[in-house]
Amino acid sequence: MSKPPSRSDRAKAAAAQRSVAFIEDGMKVGLGTGSTAALMVRALAERVRTEGLTLTCVATSTRTADQARGEGLKVVPLDEAGWLDLTIDGADEFDADLSLIKGGGGALLQEKIVAAASDRMIVITDASKEVKTLGAFPLPVEVIPFGWTATQHLIGENLEEADVLGTEISRRMAGSEPFRTDEGNFILDLALVRIGDARKLSLTLNQIPGVVENGLFLGLCDAVIIGHGDGRVETRDLHTGTVHEESVLFEETDNIFRDL
Ligand code: 5RP
Repeated sequence: MSKPPSRSDRAKAAAAQRSVAFIEDGMKVGLGTGSTAALMVRALAERVRTEGLTLTCVATSTRTADQARGEGLKVVPLDEAGWLDLTIDGADEFDADLSLIKGGGGALLQEKIVAAASDRMIVITDASKEVKTLGAFPLPVEVIPFGWTATQHLIGENLEEADVLGTEISRRMAGSEPFRTDEGNFILDLALVRIGDARKLSLTLNQIPGVVENGLFLGLCDAVIIGHGDGRVETRDLHTGTVHEESVLFEETDNIFRDL
């Protein structure tokens, strides 16, 4: 039997539910990865079932692809879909400019490629992910396994010169084994505490041999939908500067909460 939804589950579900209202019939849609994105996939599948929408979806991980197909959504590779209308994804941190840290779920590479290949990216989140300055959440960096200790060393050297408060680096583990991304790479988590110049840091990291991509998403996100435990949702649009508030009402028995 599944447990009752927590306030955090409700907050994520409210943001997820609101976000799928931005999807229109015929759209090509990027599907993010993580617990909030999983709720969005469920809410989207419900709309497809009840409204008969025709959508083409591109997933940002095998996890999301499996879930979306299981829920009855049509999922194709990005190369088949071409350019996307909209990507909806979660985030680990966002600031006032809608700069993000992503990759807590280890899918940052596909997430960044898919977001960059979309007209619009909407982030869905609960209020706890909002920060004044990025960096409290360890920054995930995807690296090639070959020579990863040399890559880690070079990242460390570069961090000494960077505008950050912390320099600790740890390789992400999955139990006793190193975590592997969908591409078979490792993730190094950088405990930076505070990132002073995210753009410079992103460029610096991506110039190091062995680094595939980092979890800073800069200039990619267009709007954020922030859910609250009582069902309130706030939608902030970066381009129009508008903020909308409304409520999404759920029953504990709603389909979106099944098997949480
Ligand atoms: C996966 C991600 C996720 O979007 C991020 O970690 C947020 O996850 P959740 O919705 O479970 O809090 O970047 O790589």
